[in-house]
Amino acid sequence: MRGIILSGGSGTRLRPLTKITSKQLLPIYNRPMIYYPLNTLIKAGIKEILIIVSPERAGDYLNLLGSGRQFGVKFTYEIQDKPEGLAQAFIIGENFIDDENVAMVLGDNIFADDFSKDINNFKSGAKIFAKKVSDPKRFGVVKFDENMKAQEIVEKPQEYLSDYAVTGLYIYDSKVVDIAKNLKPSDRGELEITDINNHYLKNDKLSVAKVEGEWLDAGTFDSLFTAQKLAKEKLNDKLVI
Ligand code: G1P
Repeated sequence: MRGIILSGGSGTRLRPLTKITSKQLLPIYNRPMIYYPLNTLIKAGIKEILIIVSPERAGDYLNLLGSGRQFGVKFTYEIQDKPEGLAQAFIIGENFIDDENVAMVLGDNIFADDFSKDINNFKSGAKIFAKKVSDPKRFGVVKFDENMKAQEIVEKPQEYLSDYAVTGLYIYDSKVVDIAKNLKPSDRGELEITDINNHYLKNDKLSVAKVEGEWLDAGTFDSLFTAQKLAKEKLNDKLVI
């Protein structure tokens, strides 16, 4: 299993905090934000990790994280020239993925949970993780039927669909590269990961698990604030880096 951390974007929602640095490098208690999703991958035993960053901040990531040797892993870096969607990561990462399975985590997603089993037992298709939230409009949302089988996934639905947000951890087989290459940009001009998930869903190859532990996307001022507390109280003694 290969790992990808997508840490691009310009963090406009968090200005002025992100005027001179990347959102995913902001401090969350005693570590830069990206350390938390890195922990999610490294704890699961992933040794080869591609870090995708924006061109403006690439040097900062190299200075902070280096080769990965100090953490017992190997980091590779790629640039996402423009924030053109999460699904673009699989096009940028084509050579890195090769024909391996891949687990991608977003650089601003903080999980107080352990995904080692999901990552190590994964064979093929796709696996995503959902969590009940109070503000589903902010996320990709998954609707389940009465047997808790996923029926449909919608990116930031304006009409209520379900309380289950799709979190920023995704496991795919290497077919994801071709699926991503065939996507058309959405109305917001991005290649949507939700379209990848719906592709696997239509082919009956998508499994959706619920996140038992806590999760947050630290992309707003309020969630950034909540993340500090989560990191100090629930995560600090469970981290490997
Ligand atoms: C992205 C995805 C969304 C997902 C979320 C998780 O949203 O598009 O489906 O629920 O990450 O953090 P964005 O952060 O780009 O608004």
